[in-house]
Amino acid sequence: MAEYVKSYQYKSMNTVLSILILGSGGREHAIAWKIRQSRQAVRIFVAPGNAGTADIATNVPVDVTDFEQLKRFCIEEEIQMLVVGPEVPLVEGVADFFQMDPLLADIDVIGPGSRGAMLEGSKAFAKDFMLRHQIPTAAFLRVNKLNLEEGFLFLQKLKAPYVLKADGLAAGKGVLIIHDPEEARHELKAMLEGKFGKASDEVVIEEFLPGIEMSAFVLTDGSDFVMLPSAKDYKRIGENDSGPNTGGMGAVSPVVFADKVFMEKVKDRIIKPTILGLQQEQIAYKGFIFFGLMNVGGDPYVIEYNARLGDPETECILTRIKTDFVDLLRACAKGSLGSYKSETDDRFAVTVMLVAEGYPGTYKRGDKISGLETVNDCVVFHAGTASDISTGSPKTNGGRVLAVTALGDTLEEARATALSNAAKISYQGKYYRRDIGLDLLHFKPF
Ligand code: AMP
Ligand code: GLY
Repeated sequence: MAEYVKSYQYKSMNTVLSILILGSGGREHAIAWKIRQSRQAVRIFVAPGNAGTADIATNVPVDVTDFEQLKRFCIEEEIQMLVVGPEVPLVEGVADFFQMDPLLADIDVIGPGSRGAMLEGSKAFAKDFMLRHQIPTAAFLRVNKLNLEEGFLFLQKLKAPYVLKADGLAAGKGVLIIHDPEEARHELKAMLEGKFGKASDEVVIEEFLPGIEMSAFVLTDGSDFVMLPSAKDYKRIGENDSGPNTGGMGAVSPVVFADKVFMEKVKDRIIKPTILGLQQEQIAYKGFIFFGLMNVGGDPYVIEYNARLGDPETECILTRIKTDFVDLLRACAKGSLGSYKSETDDRFAVTVMLVAEGYPGTYKRGDKISGLETVNDCVVFHAGTASDISTGSPKTNGGRVLAVTALGDTLEEARATALSNAAKISYQGKYYRRDIGLDLLHFKPF
C-alpha cells in the first residue's frame, strides 16, 4: 500500500515532494540549487546547511550523524527523499538506519548502505574488491602490526615514490606519498602506531601510478547507471599544484583528456565491473559513485572510490547537467535508471574555490562577506558560510568559503568569467588559485 501511495504521489505533478539533503558544504548547496530548478514542486530541507542553502531551502540544525534527530524531523515533515552529501553518515549507516525503521522505510535514500559505503570507508576493502573483480588499480599490500615485516619487504620491491594509505576515513589526510625509502618505513610504522588514530590500524601500501588524475561520477540504482559529467579537481593549496593538500581548490568539466575513447575504457573496465561486482556480492547500492582515476598513458586505473559526489566537483558538474535532477534521483530510487537518458550541456564549467587565509591549516571564521550581489554570469555556491545572527548577512564559517562557477563556450571563457567574478567578492584574507584549468588549456593528448 505504501508503495502504491508513493508512486501515485510521484506521478502527480501537483504533489509537493519533500526532500532532505544532508551536509553543509558547497556540494550540498549545489545539490539543493539543482533540485530547486526541477519542474517538480519541492520542499527542500538541508541539515545542517549554510548561508547559501538558507536562501533556497530551509536549514535544519541537526547533525548529519544524529540519526534519531533526523528520524524525528523526517517523520514530522513527512520527508519522502533523503539525499546524503558527505561520506561520514553513509559509512555510519544512515541508509541502513532508514531502511530498517518501519517509520522511515518508505523514504527513498540516495546513498548506499554501510556495506556499499565501505568502498570509500575502507581502502583495504576497496582494493580487495577491485582485485576480486579485475578492476585496474595499483599493486598493493594490506599491512597491520602483525605483518609489518612483510610490509617492509613490499616497500623494498617498489620504486619511489611510495604510497601509504590509512585504511579508514581520515578526512582526506590519510594518504602519504613519500620519496625516501627510510622515511616510508618510518611512516608506515608511525601510521600503524596511531598516526591517524584508528583509521591507520591498517595501512595499504600501493605502487605509485604516474599519470594525470580525473574524477568520473555515476548515479546507480544498483543495476544500471547514468554517467554524469567528469571533472578534474585541483587539490593543492598553491598555484602549479604546490603546497599541502586541501579538500579541493577548484574544478573543471569536461576534462579534455577524458575523450570518448578513454571514457569507453572507463565504462567497460571500471564502472560496469564495479556495479556488477556490487551485485554479485549482494551489496544493494542506490546512490552516487565517484571514481578517482589515474590516466596512465591513456589507460584508466582506480586510485580511490568514494560513495558520494565530490566537492568541489559537484559545484562544477551540476551546472552542466540539463536533465531534471529530481527525475533523475527518483529514477534511481525506483530502480529505473536503465531507461533514463541524461542530457549534458556541451559548454565548459570552471569552479574557483575561495578559501580562508591559513587554510588548510588554522584559519579564522566570522569575517563579513561582501560583493555577492555584484557577480554576474556565474553561480556562487556557499561552502563554509553562515548567516550573521544580528545582520542576517553571510560571514565566513569554514576553510573553503565559496565556490564560484561559470560556464563558457571555451575553457578560456569559463575560466575568465569565474576568475573575474571571484575577484568581485571580498572578505578578510580571501585566497584563491588563479590557475584552475590552466594546465588543460594547452594539454597535449597521449
Ligand atoms: P586518495 O585519498 O586515495 O585519493 O589519495 C590522495 C591522492 O594521492 C590522490 O588524489 C592522488 O593524487 C594520490 N595518489 C593516491 N594513490 C596513488 C597512487 N597509487 N599513485 C599515484 N598517486 C596516488
Ligand atoms: N574533491 C575531492 C573529494 O570530494 O573527495
